[in-house]
Amino acid sequence: MDDLLHVRSLVNSREGTVKPAIYTDPDIYRLELERIFARSWLFLAHESMIPKAGDFFTTYMGEDAVLVVRQKDGSVEAYLNQCRHRGMRVCHADGGNTRAFTCPYHGWSYGLDGALNSVPLEKEAYRDQLDKSKWGLTRVTRIATYKGLIFGNWDATAPDLEDYLGDMKWYLDGFLDRRAGGTEVLGGVHKWTIDCNWKFAAEQFCSDQYHAPYTHASAIQVLQPTAANKADGSPLGEGQTAKPVWADALGGVQFSGNGHGSAFFFTGKPDANVWVGGQVSAYFREHYPEAVARLGEVRAKRLAGHNTMFPTLSWLNGTQTLRVWHPRGPDKIEVWAFCIGDKEMPDDVKDALIKSHARSFGPAGFLEQDDSENWVEVQKVLKGHMARRTDFCMQMGRGFEERRSDGIPGLTNYTFAETAARGFYQHWADMMSAENWGEIEALAKVSEKELADV
Ligand code: FES
Ligand SMILES: [Fe+2]
Repeated sequence: MDDLLHVRSLVNSREGTVKPAIYTDPDIYRLELERIFARSWLFLAHESMIPKAGDFFTTYMGEDAVLVVRQKDGSVEAYLNQCRHRGMRVCHADGGNTRAFTCPYHGWSYGLDGALNSVPLEKEAYRDQLDKSKWGLTRVTRIATYKGLIFGNWDATAPDLEDYLGDMKWYLDGFLDRRAGGTEVLGGVHKWTIDCNWKFAAEQFCSDQYHAPYTHASAIQVLQPTAANKADGSPLGEGQTAKPVWADALGGVQFSGNGHGSAFFFTGKPDANVWVGGQVSAYFREHYPEAVARLGEVRAKRLAGHNTMFPTLSWLNGTQTLRVWHPRGPDKIEVWAFCIGDKEMPDDVKDALIKSHARSFGPAGFLEQDDSENWVEVQKVLKGHMARRTDFCMQMGRGFEERRSDGIPGLTNYTFAETAARGFYQHWADMMSAENWGEIEALAKVSEKELADV
């Protein structure tokens, strides 16, 4: 398509417009797999999922199937889950513990270190001519961890993980570092598909606080008359109606940086989240002083907020869902959702959190359903010829960006704004049009100035 030659023109973050071809065009999608997913730091697994040597977890980087494996020396490696003989998926299990990965097609067998160790009938069939040292599993170029989260990147020239995260570390700490001992994944992984482009989901978690009062109005109404919604946890009296979290908010903040984004209400309530159960709220209240001591008061308060680390890792504070939007074509995603709890949580609180996670943002969760319906319908509307040619408006809060002095880092705005969406799509456009990371970083410098200087 013609626009592909001008991919950067599909997004105009200065004017605040997006062309819908970015959600539908198969050529753009193929370019995304190369330029976004083969060059970004992508979430692979949580350390707690593979604690022992030989533990493994199978996941995806974009559409590439990968195996994440704990090595004998305690380090982590990841490989393409693709046999070097004829490309078969080497490992079909979701996870487990093993000493070797043996391909189900013809039986080539690989070690934990990815080396090709044995080949059936090697002597007879290959007559000793196969150099096994050349046919190990394809190793993911770089692996790095941040506070329990393991990431992979195919690009040797990408910035280090911490530089890639930039100010997003501050927000990630508010999720992962509230208590000594760190976090772990509770329960299994929820996996389901949604018929929409990956950017609808990633952008919403990056930037869109605006949808919550309207899209989730019915869920909020149902949940309001609960003890959990009161700051002190006490039950509501006869005829009393709890207010939504934003009604008495001191304000709200939206953050944008390196394509990542976050938005939250600045409520001052340590348990401000209407969809978290009473027991979980009580836990957050009880351990709030520890979070303040570790993170400072401003960051510890962030218990109602949404976040996306570019491109496809999102999480919600309080609800404790961490999810990856694995792309499956221009109009489909596979959601993988993990429930994240503090290691030190008592078992009964862990159980309550697993339930509240499933109830709210599980595949049948009452909030998840609201969100996905919007994305699926937009994707259906974009089947229309004229619909695909009609620009989207992304202008909320344009010109009101600020850099704060209260310790909240990055380019910010009021929580109801589209600064983070503009930052997300501008970063997408920069990555899509740049040949290498040197060019991406040069374009990002120009974009950063444009985003803040309207
Ligand atoms: S494809 Fe794996 S052994 Fe042949
Ligand atoms: Fe939502």
